[in-house]
Amino acid sequence: MRVLHCLLMVLLLCGPVAAQNMDVERSSTGGAQTLEDIMARQAGQKIDDSFRSGALGNPTQAKDIADQLGTLGGVSQSELWRAIRYNASDNSASGSGVVGNVMIQSGGMPWYEFREGPLRQYGGGLLLVTLMLLGVFYIARGRIRIDGGPAGSTITRFKAVERFGHWVLAGSFILLGITGLLTLFGRVILAPYFGKELNSTLLIASKWIHNNVSWAFMLALIMVFVMWVAHNIPNRTDWIWIKQGGGIFTKSHPPAKKFNFGQKIIFWGVIVLGASVSASGLSLTFPFEMPMFAKTFAILNNIGLPEALGFGTLATEMSPQEEMQFAQAWHAIVAFVMMAMIMAHIYIGTLGMEGAYDAMGSGEVDEEWARQHHSLWYEEVKAKQTNSQPAE
Ligand code: HEM
Repeated sequence: MRVLHCLLMVLLLCGPVAAQNMDVERSSTGGAQTLEDIMARQAGQKIDDSFRSGALGNPTQAKDIADQLGTLGGVSQSELWRAIRYNASDNSASGSGVVGNVMIQSGGMPWYEFREGPLRQYGGGLLLVTLMLLGVFYIARGRIRIDGGPAGSTITRFKAVERFGHWVLAGSFILLGITGLLTLFGRVILAPYFGKELNSTLLIASKWIHNNVSWAFMLALIMVFVMWVAHNIPNRTDWIWIKQGGGIFTKSHPPAKKFNFGQKIIFWGVIVLGASVSASGLSLTFPFEMPMFAKTFAILNNIGLPEALGFGTLATEMSPQEEMQFAQAWHAIVAFVMMAMIMAHIYIGTLGMEGAYDAMGSGEVDEEWARQHHSLWYEEVKAKQTNSQPAE
C-alpha cells in the first residue's frame, strides 16, 4: 500500500513539470504571452508579437462609466499601455516638453545591456591589448636610440606656449580618461573590493572632475589645432615615410619636416576624435538640449554610407532618451579609441625613443636627434639661423 502511495505521489508531482515543458497553446493563456515568448524576448530573439500589438481592447464595447473599468473606456490598463507602445492610441502625457511626453521607449534595455557587456569587455580589452602590444614592441625593438649618440648641442623644437597647450591637453585628457573609466568600471572593479561607500564617493568626485576638466580639454584642443595644423597637412614626403614604414623596423631615418606621417596621424586622430568626444560629451552634460544623432544619421543615410557598410538605413526619428543613449555609447567608444592611440603616443614620447621627451619637456632637442628624425625641419631651422646671423 505504501509503495502504491509513493508511486501516486511521484506521478502527481511529475504532472506540473511535464506541463511546463509542453508548448502552451496561446488560447489557453487567454491571449497572454507564454513562457517561450518571454524566454525568446530575453534572449534577444525576434518574436511574433501580434498577440500583444493586436490586443488593444475595443473602445466601442466600452462599459458604462458606472461599470467596473468603465472609466477606461472599455480597455484595461494593460491594453491601454500596449496601445501606447504600438502607437495605436492618441493619448498624451500631462508632462510638458518633448522629454516628458515620451511614455514608453524601448531602447533603454538594449542600451543598458550594451553598456554593461560589450562596451566594458571590448573597451577594456582594447586598452589591455594595446598595453600588451606596446610591451611586445618594446621587447622586440627596444628603445629607439640616437644613432652614434647625442651631439650635445640642442635646438628649440617647441616654444613655451606650444608646450603649455600640449600639457593642458595631456593633463586634462589623462584626468578625463581615469575618471571616465571609473564611471564605467567602478561598480565592477571598486565596489566589490572596497565597498559601495568608497565607490560612491569616488564616482561623485569623478563626475565633478570629468564635467569640469572637459572645458580645459576643449580649449587646449582648439589651441593645439591652431598652433600645429599648418605643419600637419599631408605632403609628398609622407609617401617616403610610409614606404619605409617610418623606419621603425628597418632602422632607417626617412626624411620628415616638423611632423612625420605617424605624428600627423596622431594629430588628426586627436583633433577629429577629440572634437567628436567633445560634441557627444556636451550633449551628455546638457541632457536633451543638444540632440545630434538623428540628424547625423539622416546625413549618413543620404550619403549612403550605412547601406554600403551593410547597416541598412539608420533611424532618423528617435526619442530624446534614445538620443542620450547614443550619445553615451558614442562618447565611450570614441574615448576608448583615443585612449589606445594616446597610450602608443605616450610610449614613443617617453620610453620608446631616446631624446623625444625633451621636445615637450624643456622644448630643446638634441641636434643629432633632430637631424635623424626630422631632417628637413632641421635643415630649415639651421638655414634660418644662418640667415639671421648678422653679416660680418
Ligand atoms: C604623459 C603623456 C604625454 C607625453 C609624455 C607626451 C609626449 C609628447 C612629445 C614628446 C611630443 C613631441 C614629439 C616631437 O617632438 O615630435 C608630443 C606631441 C604631441 N602630443 Fe603628446 N604626450 C602626452 C600626452 C598627450 C595627449 C593626452 C595628447 C592628446 C589628447 C597629446 C597630443 C599630442 C599631439 C597632437 C602632438 C603633436 C604630434 C606628435 O608629436 O605626435 N599628447 N607629445
